[in-house]
Amino acid sequence: MTANDRPLGRPSGQQPKPYESAFLKACRREPVPHTPVWFMRQAGRSLPEYLKVREGIPMLESCMRPELVKEITLQPVRRHGVDAAIFFSDIVVPLKAIGIDLDIKPGVGPVVAEPIRTRADLHRLRDLTPEDVWYVTEAMGLLTDELGTTPLIGFAGAPFTLASYLVEGGPSRNHEHTKALMYGDPQLWADLLDRLAEITSAFLKVQIEAGASAVQLFDSWVGALAPADYRRSVMPASAKVFSSVASYGVPRIHFGVGTGELLGLMGEAGADVVGVDWRVPLDEAARRVGPGKALQGNLDPAVLFSSREAVETKAAEVLAAAADLEGHVFNLGHGVLPTTDPDALTRLVAYVHEHTAR
Ligand code: CP3
Repeated sequence: MTANDRPLGRPSGQQPKPYESAFLKACRREPVPHTPVWFMRQAGRSLPEYLKVREGIPMLESCMRPELVKEITLQPVRRHGVDAAIFFSDIVVPLKAIGIDLDIKPGVGPVVAEPIRTRADLHRLRDLTPEDVWYVTEAMGLLTDELGTTPLIGFAGAPFTLASYLVEGGPSRNHEHTKALMYGDPQLWADLLDRLAEITSAFLKVQIEAGASAVQLFDSWVGALAPADYRRSVMPASAKVFSSVASYGVPRIHFGVGTGELLGLMGEAGADVVGVDWRVPLDEAARRVGPGKALQGNLDPAVLFSSREAVETKAAEVLAAAADLEGHVFNLGHGVLPTTDPDALTRLVAYVHEHTAR
């Protein structure tokens, strides 16, 4: 089969089957039968069945095998009974797909062979075409057939977080090279973020056309910025991504870590749902975000290492703070930590469903 005659998924415009799910209703701020739950990084190292199927297969290679992607994406749905699946991939997959020399090193994260720091480097960021990520389209087609009414969340890295990996060359605590470029050469920075916005938009469109019924933009490291810098140097690129997929009508979720001071701007960038980490209670987050948006979050992932009673107490606190929200999707404040007991996650899903049934 060539890239061109591979199935392209559901024709756009057709009503997605999961339309009536609790997850999509909460994103749309409609009444729900129970508060929907899913977990960032629900597929992954906390699950023994994940470690088993990934054995001997490098992370990026596993993202390019549709049958494996389907299996890994379904594992947490089967095990935990979560209200949504998140597509198994990584934020650096589209960069790899356009030929950037990078790898995901176990225990480290994405590492880029030649960082992007000059204008001459920009040409390496060519446009992404659907053929570059044919395996994403194929895996999403397999998944939507299997998932039925359970929504599938597509995702991408936001321009700032992708830029941080590309400019630093790998994970970074202080983002010093990234900020040096942002402050020192604002025009090159703007051009870099605009290129990344184009690539990210194209990657999200591929996923929506293939059946994703919501999308999440991960700006994991943007909490490193002050609001004025975010507004001036990052928000235009993220806003471009959100507006590029607005016409599909699927909910757009916007998430970052340590973004308490940015929540209002992250909503303003064009999100329908704003993700909140555990540092700001959801009622306060709602005041910062303002009306007309749902919120997602925000149990500290480290809480899952404490006793069952403590987990329930902290989950009840999240639900209490969310009681008056227009829409709430229960999640952790960041991804599932790799050594989390999977049974604690399964119990948490049941707890939230039980205690929010209406
Ligand atoms: O279950 C899911 O959430 C879907 C899969 C998913 C992965 N990465 C798989 C993965 C998602 C949504 C991501 C997003 C991602 N990738 C982000 C944004 C989310 C966040 O955590 O803030 C970021 C910053 C990355 C970059 C990245 N990729 C990191 C920091 C790491 C961890 C490195 C490590 O080993 O600690 C990766 C690798 C990665 N991506 C793994 C998984 C399951 C672990 C690799 C493995 O199992 O070998």
